[in-house]
Amino acid sequence: MDTKLFFGDATAFETPMLAVFAVDLAEAKDAEPIPALLMPPGALQDAAAALLESGEFKAALGEIVVLHAPAGLKAERLLLVGLGKLKDLSLDRMRKGAGTAVRAAKPRKVRSMAIAFPDTSALPGGQIEPSAMLTARALVEGAELAQLDWDTYRSDRKDCSIDSLTLIASEAEPAAIGDLQRGFEEGLIVSSAQNFARSLVNEPGNVLTPTVLGARAKAMCDEAGIKCEVYSSDKLQELKMEAFWAVAKGSAQPPALIVMTYEPKTAPAADAPVFGLVGKGITFDTGGISIKPADGMEKMKYDMAGAAAMIGAMHAIARLKPAAKVIAVVCSAENMPDGKAFKPGDVVTAMSGKTIEIVNTDAEGRLVLADGLHYAKTLGCTHLIDAATLTGACVVALGLLNFGVFSNDEATWEKFMDGLTVSGEKGWRLPCTDDYRDHIKSEIADIMNTGKNRYGGAISAAMFLKEFAGDTPWVHLDIAGCAWDEEKKPWIAYGPSGIAVRSIVEWVRSYSA
Ligand code: BES
Ligand code: ZN
Ligand code: ZN
Repeated sequence: MDTKLFFGDATAFETPMLAVFAVDLAEAKDAEPIPALLMPPGALQDAAAALLESGEFKAALGEIVVLHAPAGLKAERLLLVGLGKLKDLSLDRMRKGAGTAVRAAKPRKVRSMAIAFPDTSALPGGQIEPSAMLTARALVEGAELAQLDWDTYRSDRKDCSIDSLTLIASEAEPAAIGDLQRGFEEGLIVSSAQNFARSLVNEPGNVLTPTVLGARAKAMCDEAGIKCEVYSSDKLQELKMEAFWAVAKGSAQPPALIVMTYEPKTAPAADAPVFGLVGKGITFDTGGISIKPADGMEKMKYDMAGAAAMIGAMHAIARLKPAAKVIAVVCSAENMPDGKAFKPGDVVTAMSGKTIEIVNTDAEGRLVLADGLHYAKTLGCTHLIDAATLTGACVVALGLLNFGVFSNDEATWEKFMDGLTVSGEKGWRLPCTDDYRDHIKSEIADIMNTGKNRYGGAISAAMFLKEFAGDTPWVHLDIAGCAWDEEKKPWIAYGPSGIAVRSIVEWVRSYSA
């Protein structure tokens, strides 16, 4: 999609479809909706007036109406997009609104469209949008994310893509123009990174093996101009990554240890933080010898969504160029049952030297991450973040809306949570305090790879990872419930969400923008 920012008058803009946003001014939950356009008085307001008065359009989030040949406008169609109640208006609603506009246009065979930048100044309460820069960014992100559909493997695929999208903002102060431009450009960078992550997660396990994931990461890094090394079995032996190798060795597909490095142009001070992004890249999780039930197992192709989040984050970081060094370590393998597979009862020694009793081979994510986290520290990382589709228990605890956030350091956790207001993603903190250490105590080794019972399974997994983060400030994201959108939404296709890319990028930038 060719996405442009244009400064001018939306009413005079010639386009097959012009999208404008509307909110519901009614405050009480059951009150009759009072829809209002986020546009200054004029031809746009006039064109929509009769519809708004009819009560047919309530401006609920995700609701749309199309008006053909709107009087007084140059657009062939006027698309009204609801953002929900005014009191709930947020950056994320703007993002969803732009997504809804694009997804409304796609099946209508519209190839070129425009979105009018929302103007809240005419509303009671005056200007309320967060900032022009962040709004521009959110609108672009929403529109770009909405463009993708996961029909690449269908032979009856209909091309419904939008070729050109123009975001129309009124000619404002020169300072505001600069802000809008910056937000617009950042939105393009972040959304293309997230879409790249989503496209990786969408790939089936037979296509996206660890080797292929490594090749895709390498190609991305080559294009972005950052360093990428892809290692396999030999390197795992050399580094004594027995925990990672235990998972990998049951598969005919060799593992991939992917190391991507971003260095800022000006070398940071010697004591500046170095960020380590560690991703779980299980390209298919059968459970191994502790095999999973057949029902729903096909979903386990997305067990590499944590890896995709880190590869996506590096895609954005290479272009946003923060003033800090960032190293991503992706541990990718296939978890298979086989004559060579690891078994419950096995004891392995992780790269850090800790011994691990394997109780369940389906708790494989924490094993590959154990070596990934430790390795990131040996590469000089001073701040760690990992993302993993780690536990079903996290899905039980938080549902599909929030990912689990765990941390061993208050300041680091706070920095991460602050970024969520910009990213619009939702994460909820769960504990991993030392009083839970008992969960992973083993009789015969230092630790075991499951909890002693099924209670607090997401916490047991986090406690296991914490052993390998050690004293290094660390945030762990359990994205098992959020990496695949189960429900169809008006603003984004069902399927791979690309969750955590935006939040991880924001976290890194919060130290170094
Ligand atoms: N990949 C799964 C976790 C998962 C579950 C991801 C649902 C996405 C959706 C992970 O490797 C796993 O199987 N975890 C086990 C751990 C258990 C054996 C301690 C689980 O959650 O059941
Ligand atoms: Zn598993
Ligand atoms: Zn898994």
